[in-house]
Amino acid sequence: MEKIRKLLENNRSWSDRVVADDADFFRGLAQQQNPDYLWIGCSDSRVSANVIVDLAPGEIFVHRNVANLVNHTDMNCLSVIQFAVEVLQVEHIIVCGHYGCGGVAAALDGKRHGLIDNWLRHIQDTAHLYADELAAITSNEAKIDRLCELNVVEQVISVAETTIIGDAWKRGQDVKIHGWIYGLKDGLIRELGISICNENDLERSRKRFLLTDERHDATTASK
Ligand code: CO
Repeated sequence: MEKIRKLLENNRSWSDRVVADDADFFRGLAQQQNPDYLWIGCSDSRVSANVIVDLAPGEIFVHRNVANLVNHTDMNCLSVIQFAVEVLQVEHIIVCGHYGCGGVAAALDGKRHGLIDNWLRHIQDTAHLYADELAAITSNEAKIDRLCELNVVEQVISVAETTIIGDAWKRGQDVKIHGWIYGLKDGLIRELGISICNENDLERSRKRFLLTDERHDATTASK
């Protein structure tokens, strides 16, 4: 019971600190939210969206699940994207994965983990898609990290392929989807060289990541 009380105490002192700094902060936010960004990230407790990009409440709309997956039958994720794009009119959607993702590792380890294996199945599909590239990586840690990157790439493409984004672009709405990955060891985000803002970008991205490993060398070198 003490652990849970601690959170409520933390909340009180946080609220006091915020009001001491800006007496109107909560009054302003209570009227409306107007974020420019939608964040789709992993549930991992170490990859907290607002914290790692240093944004205050109200500045980023967030959806998180195990291994930051965007599936076209996931009504939860699709509803978040629809609300963000059509109502909040966010300009940027960021899919942010992280190195050493437990979900990605579990998808590769060949063991049974229960119900979640059905969710992780989507990562295994990505692993099959890039099987040749992954097979060439000998270190297991490096293989997992590369799949963490490729998983982000595939989810960026998946966001771009939703009816929500297709319709937004058709209306002339400016919405751009980015792929990032966060390093647990240094707290830094790397851009994965995938930003999609129209159908042509989408087509190019699909081909580029499957056909070349130029980027692989670039990203592993900077890690
Ligand atoms: Co994770």
